[in-house]
Amino acid sequence: MVELALPKNSRVQKGQHHPAPAGAKKVKTFKVYRYDPEGTENPRWDTYDVDVEACGPMVLDALIYIKNTMDPTLAFRRSCREGVCGSCAMNIGGRNTLACTHGWEEVPGQTCTISPLPHMPVIKDLVPDMTLFYAQYASIEPWLHTKTPEPQGEWLQTPA
Ligand code: FES
Repeated sequence: MVELALPKNSRVQKGQHHPAPAGAKKVKTFKVYRYDPEGTENPRWDTYDVDVEACGPMVLDALIYIKNTMDPTLAFRRSCREGVCGSCAMNIGGRNTLACTHGWEEVPGQTCTISPLPHMPVIKDLVPDMTLFYAQYASIEPWLHTKTPEPQGEWLQTPA
């Protein structure tokens, strides 16, 4: 008989709760996936009550606020902060999207759930391992191919 077992990191546990600072007027809860594959613990959902009047309008602003003022151990990627590089891609409120262009007010309800992109191994928290993605990307060679010999310098465009 075949014996099946779920991988050890498949059960996400309840995590820590980080309350809003005293005097916070407008609070939204961010439920964030936390996981360190190098550790011994299963993944967990940590919740952060963020004073959203103290941070910017995007989910990335809330994550930066959390990292700077509530929990410096939270890991996520970001770079351009304007929807160009794609490094802040994650799952927000059940949608795969960019944290820097997705407003926390777009997520209905009191709680905004944030997890890493699905179907990718996690390096830490919201940071997925992109190794396979880049290997697949290179395998399809998504650039212009030519039949003429390569020039010594750059490819010059003809006026025509
Ligand atoms: Fe570059 Fe969000 S930080 S797309």
